[in-house]
Formats: sequence, structure tokens, C-alpha cells
Amino acid sequence: MIKLNDKTEARIDEIISKLTLKQKVGQMNQAVLWAGSEEYYIDRIRKGEIGTLICGLPNRSDDRSSEAERRRLLNSLQKAAIEESPCGIPLMFGADVVHSYDVCYPVPLASAASFDTELVEKCYRNIAEETSRDGLNWTFAPVLDLAHDPRWGRVVESGGEDPYLSGSMGAAIVRGFQGQLNSGRDLIACGKHFIGYGAMEGGRDYHNSDISDYFFNNWYTKPFKAAVDAGALTIMSSFNSVAGQPVTSSKKLLRDVLKNKMGFNGFVISDYDAVKQLKNQGVAEDDRDCARLAAIGGVDMEMVDNTYPKYLCELVKSGELDESVIDEAVRRVLRVKFASGLFDNPYRNDYDCDIEAHRADARQLASENVVLLKNNGILPLGENSKVFMTGPFLNERISHVGAWAGHYDLERIATYREAAAETVAKDKVSFSDSVFSETVMNEIPDDCDAVILFLGENMCCTGEAVSVADISVPKDQEELVRRARAKGIPVIGVFNFGRPRALGNVIDMLDAAVYGWHNGTMAAYGMLDVLYGRKNPCGKLPMTILRHIGQLPMYYNSLNTARSVNAYYGEGRSYYDMKTGPLYPFGYGLSYTRFEYSAPICSKTEISTDELECGKTVSVSVDVKNIGDISGKEVIQCYVRDHVGTMQRPVRQLCGFRKVEIAAGDTVSITFDIGMKELGYYGEDGVFAVEKGMFTVYTGENCLSENGIEIRVV
Ligand code: GLC
Repeated sequence: MIKLNDKTEARIDEIISKLTLKQKVGQMNQAVLWAGSEEYYIDRIRKGEIGTLICGLPNRSDDRSSEAERRRLLNSLQKAAIEESPCGIPLMFGADVVHSYDVCYPVPLASAASFDTELVEKCYRNIAEETSRDGLNWTFAPVLDLAHDPRWGRVVESGGEDPYLSGSMGAAIVRGFQGQLNSGRDLIACGKHFIGYGAMEGGRDYHNSDISDYFFNNWYTKPFKAAVDAGALTIMSSFNSVAGQPVTSSKKLLRDVLKNKMGFNGFVISDYDAVKQLKNQGVAEDDRDCARLAAIGGVDMEMVDNTYPKYLCELVKSGELDESVIDEAVRRVLRVKFASGLFDNPYRNDYDCDIEAHRADARQLASENVVLLKNNGILPLGENSKVFMTGPFLNERISHVGAWAGHYDLERIATYREAAAETVAKDKVSFSDSVFSETVMNEIPDDCDAVILFLGENMCCTGEAVSVADISVPKDQEELVRRARAKGIPVIGVFNFGRPRALGNVIDMLDAAVYGWHNGTMAAYGMLDVLYGRKNPCGKLPMTILRHIGQLPMYYNSLNTARSVNAYYGEGRSYYDMKTGPLYPFGYGLSYTRFEYSAPICSKTEISTDELECGKTVSVSVDVKNIGDISGKEVIQCYVRDHVGTMQRPVRQLCGFRKVEIAAGDTVSITFDIGMKELGYYGEDGVFAVEKGMFTVYTGENCLSENGIEIRVV
């Protein structure tokens, strides 16, 4: 929540009092930068017609000349705003810098798999530093949509299926981007897409979501609340509708929930062309109606549709729109521009970034988020292991960057083949480019110890408007696995899919399997660090991996069932033709060592609702021992189960995690404080409360852990 001092709030009042109605509407208008000459924009800025601009990203250039030109242009537009526009209000320059700028970092879903909020925050600090020197001061990220359906292309941009993990990662990204704000090396964050975008029917982009109030309040709002509490200055509304109400024009969602209940006092920007899409959604007759409904609904700034500049003034003059709605929106826009330091520090300068250090951070993240799914002992490979490498991703380069990587260091992205040639002894590795030919397996050397198949999906199969109907491993890749298996040599599957694919059609044919996502510039190095044991894998699944698409929807924090058939937890038989349960559950990931958990202990086994309401907690502690012979990082997870509630409660709910390095033979003790926030929920009446009764707190290596202790609320 933005806190400005009285003096600044008074300055906002003064500015609003001086602006004409047209100039106020100008502050609610986002123009597209790439549609006219510099003079054209300067002229419109002088007239106060533009509040912010959405910018394409400059072409990356080795000598940074195109970036320098972009900085010059944006500073020139800013100068016109500061010196010649009404009231000298600075401009915001936004772009989709989602996970990449001078270095490409892993896609956000992959970052979530690291369960390392500190490392993620550091990487996003890097991105803000890399980006700001080119003139931008605002980014349309993080994505906070809960992702339950891997058919949806945008799960790669999310923090996964769990509200707590998604919120923790979203907050870390907000902190990374916004940093100290007024430093001139920060990006204003924009939590998106509020709300329910990930719940669209069939995972089909731009379709509708139908979410019960219960799930809405207890699952979908939480990541946005976390980002707002972390200080996100802007929020983007989503294309979809929720329960028959397009978000873009929903007073209930944008005003009642986001602005009033959550206390968000920054500004809401619509998604690209979403205001006009109210006609398609069948709630508006024409563009004029779209403008009216979106403004009343709570969209403070319109992204490029141009209906605000065209119609809002006349709507006010005709009495169809109260000017107080305009004033409220402009107040929010000005509040963000003050809070971000743009009034004090509107220009961006060039400065040096330690790009090699940034790449080192990207490499660490690209190894820490690799999830070891299966290993019969063939991994880690030894330096003397003789390996044969092939597969469609062996020579892939650009797909490592993933969706929404508009500006990245292509020349520094190594293919797996290049990275292996660089880091593995020549006589220990051989390659085949004849990936799908009948003969590829005949090229395997006789003394080969293992075959590595680099599998995956092109980055164009993920992202916006790219949902897929089939989430299995593609048939041709399945056939490649089959042929490799037939050779009788250990086969290692490396999966470079942006989304969690259903692996049921290949997993049993593999001796080892690692999930490497779309992991950015350093993807190949990060993965080879894991395969060769230079890094002990410690990634954990932020989304469930299914056996088959027919199991959808399937997510770990589901409710109890009437009979003991909760498929996720291995109960009963959901489908006659399919093994029960996911292939790999939320929070799952193996290591090259093993960790042993003690039974948890707690500071007390009873706590009253009064104590909880006063902020008192129960401490639950667990000892975790590394019983293997190499050091490793473990993500110690804490889940809560409320056994009996007025409403059905999820069988497990993540409420905490700690990622810790534990040396071989050592033990660490971790404590989780369990209180109101962890035990309560929004009931049918929408009120947050804790109910009396029995709870179990689990501490373990993934959501299926049974390592629990009971606590009674009295
Ligand atoms: C797109 C996306 C949104 C993005 C915006 C601007 O349609 O939905 O995530 O930030 O438009 O490019």
C-alpha cells in the first residue's frame, strides 16, 4: 500500500485542481510508442493527452547503440512532459520486461521451482538494473495468476498452482523490480492479470472463468494480496470474466475487492485492447459504452484502446459519468508517479551493469530450479562417464528463453551441444544430430554408459494465445525414447518444456528424468551442472505433473471428497483406465543425497481462537538430517490441514517453506510459526476467521508428506 506524506497528497490535490477535464483524462490514457514520430508524441505530450506509454523493446545491439537511442528518445519525451506539459507531470514508460533484459533469466514458472525467493528477488533486481538504463521505468509483471491447467500457454509466466508459493514469488519479484524506487535503477511493478485468468475454461486463452466465492477468496486473491502488501504500485486487470462479469468493467472485483478490501491504492491499467473487448463480451453496445463501463468499473488507465480520450469528457458533460470517478483515477495515477520518485528523478541515465555477475546469478537460478523427477542411480554422471547426446533440444538455442523474452543476449545462449563440448572431455561425449532418423540409435558408441535425450517444446508453444489440447510428450519424442530404451543402455530424459507436461507416455522408459523448463541464457550450463553433479538438484514442482491430460483438473490443495477417493492422495480409483494420483505431486523434487525428517514437535498442542486473534502462534519445529554423503539443499515445506470446518477445507495447504543447504551428516532445525493466517479462511460470509477443531501441521519434502503433528484450536 502506497503511503505518501500529507504534503505530497496536497500536491496531488493542487495538480488535480489545475488540470482541465481533458488533461485529467490524458493522465488516464496510455499511448503506444511505436506508432508515430518523436514530434508527434511531443506535441501530444505538450497538450497533456498522454499519461503513460507502452514501449516495444529496443533491438539488442552489442554496442548498445539502439538502447542508447531508446534512452535518448524516452528522455526527450520526458523532458517535454516535465517542462512543457500542463503541471509538468512525468510520464511512465512501460514494457513487458517479464523475465529478461540484457540477460535472459528462467521463465517465472521455472523460477518458482527454485522455491528460493531471495535468489529470485536478486535476479529481478538485476533485470531492473539492466532495463532502467535504457529509459524504461515500468514493467508489466509479475504474473500472479494461479495456474491449474497446463493446457494454458501462460502457466509459464505464473508462480504455479499454489496461492502461497505464487504470492511469495510475486512479492519477491515486486521487491526486486521496485527496489528502492527513487534510485533511477528501478522498475514500477504491475501485478497481473487481476483476476481469475488462469481459471479459464479448458485452459483456452481469452475464455471465461467461473469461480466460486469460496475459491475466489481463499485461492485466487492471495497472490495479488501478497503483491499489494509487497508494495506493487500498479495492477493490470485481466481479459477474462469471472462468473459472468468481465473483470474490465467489474466494480465488484476492481473496486470492492482489489481497491477496498485489499487496500490497493495504486492504479489499475486494463489489458491490451480489453476495454473495447467489452463489446465482444456482450456487456457494451459500442466503444462509448465500453469507456463508461470500464471507468465506472475501476480501470484507472486504459491501455491503448483510445476510448477514454475519445469519450470520457463527453460522458462527464452529459452526466453519464461523474467527474469524481475521473478525479479518483487521476489521483491514483499521480500517487504512483510520486511514490515511484518520477517527480524527483524523471530521467534515466546510462551506467555500467556487471552483466557477467548477472549471468552467474542466472546460471545459479537455472540450476537451482531443475527438478530431478526420477533417478535409478545413473545420475550424477561422472567425469569419466561416456555419454551419447541427442534429441530435438540438443541444438536448440532460442527456445531456452521461453515466452515473453523480448530483449535478450542471444549470442550468449549456448545450446546443450555447445555447453557439453565446452564442459565435458571430448572423448567422453558424442552427439547425433540425426534426431528422428531410424538410424540415430545406431550411432551410439558400444562403450557408452548413458544416453541423454534432450526433449522439449519450442518456446512458441507457450505464452499468450498458445494453449495446447495435448500436454503429453510429443509422439515423435516418445518414439525416440522408445528406440533409446531398446538399446538397453541407461536413458536420461531432459525435459525442456515451459509448462508441466503429462509424462505418462515416456516416464517408465527412462532411468532418470530431469525437468529443465525454459531456463534462459544459462539453461544449458545450469542443466549440465546438475547432470554432472557440479550442482546437487534442489528444484521442486510448482505445478503438479500429471500422468495424462484426462486427469485434469488436478491440483494438490483440493478439498476432501465424499468417499475416500481423493485421487491426488492415492485414494480409490478415479479412472478405471488410469492409475490414481498425479505422476509427481506439488513440491516434489529429488536430490543426489537424502534427507531424513524428525517427527515435528510443537510449542503447544492447543491454542484458543482468542489467542490466535491476538496474534499468538504455535511454533512447529522439525529436524532435517542429510543422511547422504554429499551436501545438498532441501526445501522444507509446511502444510496445514483443517480436519473439520463449516466449509470443506483443502486436504493440504502450503503455509511456509525454507530452502536450506545441509552438509552431509549435518542436521538443521527449522521452525514454522502457525497462527491466524495459516489456520483461518474466508467463510461463506466472506469473513476471515479461525474455527475451533483439530488441525494437522505437516513438515516434509512435498505435499504428500504424512510427517504431521496435531494442534487443536479451542
Ligand atoms: C498482452 C498481455 C499482457 C501484456 C499486455 C501488453 O495482451 O495479456 O500480459 O502485459 O498485453 O503487452
